[in-house]
Amino acid sequence: MHLAAAIESWEAPLSIRPLARRLLGVAYYPEHWHESRWAEDAKLLREAGITVVRMMEFAWDKLEPAEGQFNFAWMDRALEIFQAAGIRAILCTPTPTPPAWLVAAHPDILRVDERTGLRDSFGSRRSVTCHAPAYLAAVDRIVIAVADHWGDHPNVIGWQIDNEFGCHGSTQDISDHARRAFQAWCKAKYGSLEALNAAWGTQFWGATYTDWSQIPVPAPTTAAHNPSLLLDFRRFSSQSWVAFQRRQIEILRPRIGPDRFITHNFMPRFFDLDYYALAADLDFVGYDNYPHGLSGPMEAAFNLDLMRGMKAGRPFWLMEQQPGSVNWAPYNPPVPPGQVRTWTHQAFAHGAEAVLYFRERASNIGQEQYHAGLLKHDGTPDRGWHEAKAVSQDLERYPLLKRTKAPVALLFSYEDLWALRLDPHNAEFSYYQVALDLYRLLWEKHIPVDILPRDADLSGYAAVFVPSPALINEAHAANWRAYVEQGGNLVVTFRAFFKNPSNTWTDQPIPAGGLSELLGVVVDEFLSIPPSPSVGWRMMDDPSPDWDDERGAHVSDVAAKAGGIGFSENFGIAPKLRYRLWAEILKPTTAQVLMRYIDGYYKDAAAATMNKVGAGAAFYIGCWSEPLIPRSIWQALDLARFEADTKDLPRGQTFEIVTLYDADDKPVQVRINHSKRTVTFVEGS
Ligand code: GAL
Repeated sequence: MHLAAAIESWEAPLSIRPLARRLLGVAYYPEHWHESRWAEDAKLLREAGITVVRMMEFAWDKLEPAEGQFNFAWMDRALEIFQAAGIRAILCTPTPTPPAWLVAAHPDILRVDERTGLRDSFGSRRSVTCHAPAYLAAVDRIVIAVADHWGDHPNVIGWQIDNEFGCHGSTQDISDHARRAFQAWCKAKYGSLEALNAAWGTQFWGATYTDWSQIPVPAPTTAAHNPSLLLDFRRFSSQSWVAFQRRQIEILRPRIGPDRFITHNFMPRFFDLDYYALAADLDFVGYDNYPHGLSGPMEAAFNLDLMRGMKAGRPFWLMEQQPGSVNWAPYNPPVPPGQVRTWTHQAFAHGAEAVLYFRERASNIGQEQYHAGLLKHDGTPDRGWHEAKAVSQDLERYPLLKRTKAPVALLFSYEDLWALRLDPHNAEFSYYQVALDLYRLLWEKHIPVDILPRDADLSGYAAVFVPSPALINEAHAANWRAYVEQGGNLVVTFRAFFKNPSNTWTDQPIPAGGLSELLGVVVDEFLSIPPSPSVGWRMMDDPSPDWDDERGAHVSDVAAKAGGIGFSENFGIAPKLRYRLWAEILKPTTAQVLMRYIDGYYKDAAAATMNKVGAGAAFYIGCWSEPLIPRSIWQALDLARFEADTKDLPRGQTFEIVTLYDADDKPVQVRINHSKRTVTFVEGS
């Protein structure tokens, strides 16, 4: 169907059910341009295949120029112009940028930064604390007003709450408002100070609390704060924004009805908020895809898959897509021809339903003047515009393709990430990097992955990867055991189940909480490995001849050799792998050894194991080997059957292959060329 015809046939308003078509859109800022220009913009955008605009997220000052005085007429006219052009609208609540008059009247609505202990100054965005009564009252007033005014507007299809909670490191706030709220949160969580003192182990460094009002926020202090307080403060901060979002949803929902969607725009490589919790209250997840903030297409794919997993595979929308070069990176390189189109198709292939570019036109004012738009600063089409147009033509040419459940799951946890980040014991250790290293191998082999929370239903997955699940949870271990017993393959990496949920160390052998029994292994010793030879504070350029710590660096993938555990590869020579940053000396109880250390004082000790349980197997990878999934484990998982056929792909170019399904469930292979050379395939080959 021609796109224009498809638009005309939309039910009004657009349903929150998954779409029957893919859409393109753009962030539009009527307040940045003279009104006489809006119709021309609408025409140009429509010509590029844009059918949705997102507006209003930073326009509070214009919507409410003085307390309680609303000025909505300009937005009414903008909506009219876009409606006439056949373009639908998403409106945002404008709460990330309270107006100057509000801040001047209530300076306490500005947040206090935990890194500096200083109050933010007015003048940018995301400077607010979501605990200040004056801010909350003003938020309620503006959200009620915009929802009452446009809640049933026929051209408004949905709402975005605020903009990028937590951006610019703004999740945590240590203002007095936040401190009082944190104390109340602790009281609600622990009930008594005895329980809190015990859970946090406050006896350490003599920090027993005898009154709730003594509990601090993590303001700068001489040495480190208690890690249990820090983890709870992260939970509290994340939950505070979830509650703030819910407060707005509760205002919006009755005013916009059940059919208009409510979403929020999540960020790539951002972990300060528990996005699963933030997603729970939304109809679907919005995501801002800026590949120039990432290492490349693999990391972009990971983040897209993470977004798809937020609501059990419910397709998500890209509320912002990089349309050309950006302004916020140290160097901001150009975006070559074809790149925006490729990024857009990659997003669709990973489950995006709509892609809205940020922004319509490069801005002539403000903090982001170097950021590309679909149009140039002079209002004429830029390369992004041409690429959006090419994508809209692609969408007309091809049928709607959908993803199905992947054969492999990777369980990603914000709380594990926080616990390991708060006390990494190795400055280079990164939970996220562990997850990426697991994902990389699967991505390179074009095996689809669902990224899910730790308590996800695992039935039907051929393999499940669990990167460093630091926090003990017996229910999760029981769920994983049931999965393995029924024939599943579970792969767990180092630093597993050693911390209680309150971030204190378990008094049991690790992994604790039933995981040791499932994996058939106990961790005897853990080693934090500096990235270069050094002892303590000494670095590479400060050699330490007086120390000979016999630290090893290699493991042997023993089971991958002939006769190992039934794999026949490599002519009987066990592959030798390097490891880095983290290693654990393992004592198998019931597990078989798959990798052994071949140097260091722990030479010959077990480094990776496999435990047969019921009809399946549980693997434990005890060191950060390169690759992180050693060959013996890869072979045992038998995932090769899910690899895409790459026979006719040119060598030396980065391709991503995603299999999608059409309306008749017929598989269609989408090939995304991430390299700079054009490759032509014969259609249907
Ligand atoms: C996003 C943000 C936008 C804009 C954009 C620039 O993080 O939501 O408002 O700042 O980055 O790339």
